[in-house]
Amino acid sequence: MRQLKPAAFCIFRRMMLKGRKIIVGITGSIAAYKTATLVRCLVKEGAEVKVIMTPAAKDFITPLTLSTLSRYPVLTDIFKEDEWANHVMLGRWADAMVIAPLSCNTLAKMAWGLCDNLLLSVYLSATCPVILAPAMDEDMWKHPATRNNLKQIEQFGNTVIPVENGELASGLTGEGRMAEPEYIKDYIIHFLSRSNRKLAGKKALVTAGPTYEHIDPVRFIGNHSSGKMGIALANALHNQGAEVTLVLGPVSADHLSKDIKVVKVQSAREMYDACLHVFSQTDIAVMAAAVADYTPVTFVGEKIKKNDGNWSLELKKTTDILKDLGGRKREGQLLVGFALETNNEEANALTKLKSKNADMIVLNSLNDKDAGFGKDTNKITIFDKKGGVAGFEAKPKEAVAVDIVNYLIDYTNA
Ligand code: CTP
Repeated sequence: MRQLKPAAFCIFRRMMLKGRKIIVGITGSIAAYKTATLVRCLVKEGAEVKVIMTPAAKDFITPLTLSTLSRYPVLTDIFKEDEWANHVMLGRWADAMVIAPLSCNTLAKMAWGLCDNLLLSVYLSATCPVILAPAMDEDMWKHPATRNNLKQIEQFGNTVIPVENGELASGLTGEGRMAEPEYIKDYIIHFLSRSNRKLAGKKALVTAGPTYEHIDPVRFIGNHSSGKMGIALANALHNQGAEVTLVLGPVSADHLSKDIKVVKVQSAREMYDACLHVFSQTDIAVMAAAVADYTPVTFVGEKIKKNDGNWSLELKKTTDILKDLGGRKREGQLLVGFALETNNEEANALTKLKSKNADMIVLNSLNDKDAGFGKDTNKITIFDKKGGVAGFEAKPKEAVAVDIVNYLIDYTNA
């Protein structure tokens, strides 16, 4: 967990939140009364704040207090009379989602993907960074179940504000107090200030998804790539402050941060052209797309009719985008490729690292039950040009993306 001292934030204070959209989630904990001050501080800093409360939170503080302070109606229900709260759009509206206080119960539900109230639905749909300020008694805070749940949500890329040591609701003294509202506000300012992040000022290019190679107006050659790994990488690079362009094959851009520039393409040729267009101004390029290696020699403008015999389709090679960019790479540019293998995994990955002049190759094997197309998890090994190798356990793709981005940050700084 990051330990940040309030004094370090002072220079970021002045109206740093002007125009920033923040969701403040409140769960059932005695510390909920402090969130009124947090909301007031955020609004004073110029932020637009929407408050979402769990049903249990209403036992600790009234929605009226929070709607008055936030100047927006407080959201509590997925359904209200005939109205449905669009949790997906709420998650996309925000620049950041802050849950303060985060109770032990909601933490556990988040770690396990439960979704029985509006706050959890928004959390599961949020494309923005999520910052959490836990509050609980020391025994609950130190329980192995809580430790595991915290580890799990940090793997999802969520940020946890350290709890304080002090007087607790139980009357005991110890760890578990929610951080003070001023501290949380400063933490948010610091977090949202892009200049503090490790890839601030860097431009990144990511490819993701499959490509479709059209045969005629109704048929194409494609593959099962969902684009999830590349989308998670684009988000992880963005969360570290990079300005990201995502060149995305024909899949939907779900769960993508709204600040990421998306260039939609269909074919390998279009993907290549889109990459070439930005590569020279790019600091980091991550090629996560499953690009077709072959494309039909000719595109037939009308639907090809069947006849009695067999049909042979002549294919020609596409440009290997990673290899081509490897040939153009200049000093200081970092190029990352993937290797999806079924056999001789390590040898093939190392061959790709060298032959494509990449700086890092991320290997995933189709022999791993947790890796591959369409899955929500991945299991990777990273090989870098300096001889470094790092294996990772199977994780959600969002967590894998954070590992890859952390690795590339360490690699560039080494
Ligand atoms: N790649 C690319 N352009 C292509 C083919 C692949 O940019 N035309 C990139 C992929 O995005 C990935 C890496 O090259 O980062 C390796 O892709 P992979 O499909 O594992 O290997 P190939 O190079 O296609 O080789 P093979 O199919 O023989 O394993």
